[in-house]
Amino acid sequence: MPQEGVRQSSQARIILGIGGGIAAYKSAELARILIQRGYSVQPVMTRAATEFITPLTLSSLTHRKVITSLFASGEDSTAVLSSAIEHIDVALENDLLIVAPATADLMAQFAHGLAGDFLATMHLAFTGPVLLAPAMNTNMWNHAATQANLRVLRERGYHFVGPDAGDLACGMVGAGRLSDPLEIADAATAILNGRQDLAGETILITAGPTQEAIDPVRMITNRSSGKMGYAIAEKAVKRGARVILVSGPVALAAPQGVELIRVESAEQMKNGVLEHLDAASIFISVAAVADYRPTSPADQKVKKTASRLSIELEPTTDILAEVGRRKGDRIVIGFAAETQNLAAEGKRKLESKNCDMVVANLVGPNGTGFEGDDNEVVLITRDKEPQAIPKAAKREIARHILDAVLDLRLSARAAKR
Ligand code: PMT
Repeated sequence: MPQEGVRQSSQARIILGIGGGIAAYKSAELARILIQRGYSVQPVMTRAATEFITPLTLSSLTHRKVITSLFASGEDSTAVLSSAIEHIDVALENDLLIVAPATADLMAQFAHGLAGDFLATMHLAFTGPVLLAPAMNTNMWNHAATQANLRVLRERGYHFVGPDAGDLACGMVGAGRLSDPLEIADAATAILNGRQDLAGETILITAGPTQEAIDPVRMITNRSSGKMGYAIAEKAVKRGARVILVSGPVALAAPQGVELIRVESAEQMKNGVLEHLDAASIFISVAAVADYRPTSPADQKVKKTASRLSIELEPTTDILAEVGRRKGDRIVIGFAAETQNLAAEGKRKLESKNCDMVVANLVGPNGTGFEGDDNEVVLITRDKEPQAIPKAAKREIARHILDAVLDLRLSARAAKR
């Protein structure tokens, strides 16, 4: 059952890539159907596509500026260039990339990882599902090169709808017609609905640092930005989960659909977690929780004197270990922030905190864990060999982590039968 506050698939965001072929005019009908279904649609046209259909048609239907180029040129009020990094933003902000019509040239560019224009460049930065609706002359479709590109893309998990067989604009008869826009829209809806694979789960996530007061103006804290935890929260909501995010102080906006509980100290974070633990079927402990706090924070600002100052510290509660003790049927995921021996330390924390999986990452001068937009992790579980996830955007790492969580859920269900 979809959860309240969660962005449903009909609210998903779609990039509609339009290639340069006679069938490009049908992309207008496709855009209309997608908008009617409640999706937000960002059109991206290749230069050749604009020869077949105007950006004005697409911008009128989608109420969006149409992206036509990697770089600024001209003054068309319906078409925009993009900034040097917009292809990354567009790639990160959307849930599905549809290309209709997908020309032989676009299929070749995608298969070979070329980045010659906005659509091809953004495609490389896009990590979500891709749906291609090919349309071309039947000989071009049957050409060994196109068929080889088709195989490559299929192996990479790309979705295809069509091409249909029939009369082609070039006068030939055979495979190469763009599928009916309704059929393309149905394929898009099926993909988006299929990704609601965490529907029914309530995921409790901690993120960010904690702050432990020394006096009213000073504190002990750490470098956590919250980016890793927020990325997991955002992805989990998109995949249909109810997400409760207990967050230390960070400069990030709450991802849409997430229930955010703001805390400062380790004690407040522990209380936030324990208060919502009963509702949670999955717990993911991403926060960099202070291990120690000042035993007696001063009521007034500590004055500077010539003498040395010592601050006595006492341990905080280990929230993850506490959840591990109350685990029940929950899936419990811990993180391990290490400066060395990732796999060994991760394994130790897996056992000592009663987790189903530990996500180990390097921190410190040689590590990627803290603060940055990218991370590189090792997933450590009880049954499988450690799985190294190479350096990627934290959003992409989040996807891998949630895929592994889903595997654990499916294994747990199978074991119960
Ligand atoms: O926020 P970012 O800038 O994106 O950085 C991400 C991150 C580096 C913070 C994240 O990827 C990460 O590694 N989080 C865990 C940080 C940490 O405290 O690691 P640890 O090895 O010290 O703790 C092990 C586990 O116990 C962690 O899951 C931690 O959340 C949990 N813990 C630790 C202490 C404590 N008192 N309570 C806990 O729950």
